[in-house]
Amino acid sequence: MARTLSDKARKEAEAMVKRFPHKDGALLNVFRIVERDMGYLDEDAVKISAEICGMPPAKAWGVFTFYTTFKTKNDGKYRMWVCSTLPCALSGSEQLYDHLKETLDCNEHGTTKDGLITLKKAECLGACGTAPCLQLEDDYYENLTRDKVDQLVTELKRGVARPAGYTQDP
Ligand code: FES
Repeated sequence: MARTLSDKARKEAEAMVKRFPHKDGALLNVFRIVERDMGYLDEDAVKISAEICGMPPAKAWGVFTFYTTFKTKNDGKYRMWVCSTLPCALSGSEQLYDHLKETLDCNEHGTTKDGLITLKKAECLGACGTAPCLQLEDDYYENLTRDKVDQLVTELKRGVARPAGYTQDP
């Protein structure tokens, strides 16, 4: 059975579309609204988003699959992106990623068996000056070390939703 969007979220998405000169320009914002309402994006959610933005579903699907930031059905409760672009890689992000993969016992872009954490790689997160870094949901963790990522994982496993050490707003 196809999943549906709530009336409230549909109204919000339609209002968002009206703020753009071209309806399809609102797609990323509509994805966010639909993701929040439906929990994650899948074929049904992308079709609904495309319809609201007045564009072909295949085009919307192309945009959805281009980005790694949208929540998908198999994602864990927390998504963690380790930056793998050169400045971070030169500062040890690849080793940190491998260490996390081993610690979490999950595959490349995989989710832990308890469904708690999904580990992903990301292109430059825009914090090259404080490499290596990772993003946990909406928070950044910078100048990472093996000890810091171990602490992060320990806290998540303890049920701390927003472990200490993230970058505070200035
Ligand atoms: S290279 Fe990692 S934040 Fe830019």
